[in-house]
Amino acid sequence: MELSLIVLAAGMGSRMNSDLPKVLHPLAAVPLLHHALAAGQALQPARIVVVTGHGADLVAKAAHDFDPDIVTALQDPPQGTAHAVAVTAPLLSDAAGEALVLYGDTPFVRPETLQAMLEARASHDIIFLGFQAADPTGYGRFVTEGANLLAIVEEKQATEAERQITLCNSGVVAGATQTLLRLARAVPLRANVSEYYLTDIIDAARAEGLTVGFVTCPEAETLGINTRAQLAAAEAAFQTHKRAEMMEEGVTLISPETTFFARDTYIGRDATVGPAVIFGPGVTIETGAEIKGFCHLEGCHISRGATVGPFARLRPGAELAEDVHVGNFVEIKNAVLDEGVKVGHLTYLGDAHVGEFTNIGAGTVTCNYDGVMKHRTTIGKNAFIGSDTMLVAPVTVGDHALTASGSVITENVPAGALAVGRAKQVNKPGLAVRLMEKLRALKAAKKGS
Ligand code: UD1
Ligand code: CA
Repeated sequence: MELSLIVLAAGMGSRMNSDLPKVLHPLAAVPLLHHALAAGQALQPARIVVVTGHGADLVAKAAHDFDPDIVTALQDPPQGTAHAVAVTAPLLSDAAGEALVLYGDTPFVRPETLQAMLEARASHDIIFLGFQAADPTGYGRFVTEGANLLAIVEEKQATEAERQITLCNSGVVAGATQTLLRLARAVPLRANVSEYYLTDIIDAARAEGLTVGFVTCPEAETLGINTRAQLAAAEAAFQTHKRAEMMEEGVTLISPETTFFARDTYIGRDATVGPAVIFGPGVTIETGAEIKGFCHLEGCHISRGATVGPFARLRPGAELAEDVHVGNFVEIKNAVLDEGVKVGHLTYLGDAHVGEFTNIGAGTVTCNYDGVMKHRTTIGKNAFIGSDTMLVAPVTVGDHALTASGSVITENVPAGALAVGRAKQVNKPGLAVRLMEKLRALKAAKKGS
């Protein structure tokens, strides 16, 4: 079955009180928009259309970051949810099969629920997703008769009796693509609010003799973000859920409530995560790895048996092979560390490759940036980089080579060589004692004057 996703993301989000479009505010370290896209993408749609309006360029960029094949439809100016669907019609004119309409600001809808909607299409032409609201204020209310949905009444237009209804509209809709598009375009303008309501496709559908039904899901899935307070609550809900899921999957969290995951964090069984570890997007950790407390990890891969931290920072492109050890106050960016590499303390490795079983001494820095360009450092296997070595890139250190502590390495070091790149030490006999006596005498003279 061919599926098209239509994701509405043109709204102002004025209640966020922000210059940033609402759907770009981060939730679990990725833009809010990515959550709805991920739920939809799980159903393997043939196409995804994101409707943009407010902050269109930024929203389009975020959509393309998620999937470069996403197309965007500009809704200028936004004139309601039916209008938003209607503007996708030129992009979907040749789309067969089914369409699902999702909201970019509704992050927690599950793929299973969307699948259930598509299955319910067997009994109705159009399917809306509803939920029992603890507090229905602000939502469209479902007016039903058995399994049929007769109307959705918006809060603004609802009678006192209709306001008592707690079965509410999530906004998610499923139907045959061309039917949905035709109905969305047929919806009349609501003159009093100057908007085209997607909920009004029910009237248009029934006028054509089509049937409209609904499926329901837990309210937690339909949580829409309108304010920063709701965003914070959604973040908390995401983290609570993800922590529980991680532990169920066999990950030890020493202090779960202090661990913050990203939407896509993957951790293998029997890995351990210490307290106050923060995950940015794109982190994968294999079985049995140990992340000690207070680490920041983003865009990195940590293999089996590796240990990281405490207080380590792994940035995008950090690749740790099996049994690598990264200790405290170490930062790694765009660098591959082969099996068994040890980087124990106070080190920066950027734009580098380190061969297996090499030891990087405390205070080593790859000087990768000349102020204009970035350069690479390549270190062979079984090498020993002495403490406080500055590796001025581009530079290569061969297999089994050694750099003396405190060296500034500006030239390549051949395999097996010892490189000393520092001033020669000079000892002046007795000078320390004489110098101290002189200083004390000076201080005493100052006090006397
Ligand atoms: C809508 C539904 C309501 C439902 C509620 C669920 C309608 C008429 N009402 O109301 O029944 O209970 O969602 O949260 O559909 N958007 C556009 N272009 C527009 C207008 C909106 O892309 O012109 C997008 C928004 O960015 C947002 C979504 O559509 O992601 C919903 O819009 P919003 O204005 O929040 O609709 P509600 O009034 O909450
Ligand atoms: Ca809303």
